Amino acid sequence: DRGIVVAIDGPSGSGKSTVSRRLARELGLAYLDTGAMYRAATWWCGRTGVDLDDVAAVAAAVRAMPLTMVTDPRDPRVVCDGVDITDAIREAALTAVVSKVATNLDVRAELKRLQRAIIEDAAGGAGDHAPRGIVAEGRDITTVVAPDADVRILLLADEQARLARRAKERHGTADASTIEATRDEVLRRDADDSTVSTFLTAADGVVTVDSSAYGVDETFAAVLSVVTKAQ
Ligand code: C5P
Repeated sequence: DRGIVVAIDGPSGSGKSTVSRRLARELGLAYLDTGAMYRAATWWCGRTGVDLDDVAAVAAAVRAMPLTMVTDPRDPRVVCDGVDITDAIREAALTAVVSKVATNLDVRAELKRLQRAIIEDAAGGAGDHAPRGIVAEGRDITTVVAPDADVRILLLADEQARLARRAKERHGTADASTIEATRDEVLRRDADDSTVSTFLTAADGVVTVDSSAYGVDETFAAVLSVVTKAQ
């Protein structure tokens, strides 16, 4: 008996991390944040002194990266080379350069391989207390990493909503000045990522949920109903 695989893609500020994690918690599934893996790869390059513009060196470093993803949705952690980097990978300086690593095609191939192994492990139900499946979120999960997932959702939000959410997260409040301060970070990363992810249009069979007008609870309810219908 295989566990369920739920794939959720979306841009930053769409609410995908919050919703995916909560979904995993409530359904008793594992939780995989694939963006955190690209962030970990970026951290590892810094740690090992690899020049991010050296495409071959970055690919080699990532292939040797000793990464552990802890997929418990109550306390998901990222551990690399024995260091808990869960918080460090959220820093602004790292966020500003993560797209450099994420657009490296050899890095994408390697992380796709790791992501598929984690998903297979969770859905295949190895061990007595293995979770009954997994929620995996990112930019290319519904299309590249797990195109055969049981449920595939594209979570969208318009620019205004995404900027307001990110401003609130970063500065505690969303007013004209904090939104302006966030605009560059969010929109520049969208542009930097756009060469690899075509996540703004849903692939065949992918259900789109637009969270622009929704709060967290409403977004969660909409996503949960898509999952429930598919089960
Ligand atoms: O979701 P998050 O903002 O943590 O993702 C960080 C970066 O990882 C993105 O800006 C993108 O460059 C990359 N990413 C990706 N493919 C994924 C998930 C994230 O390229 N599936």
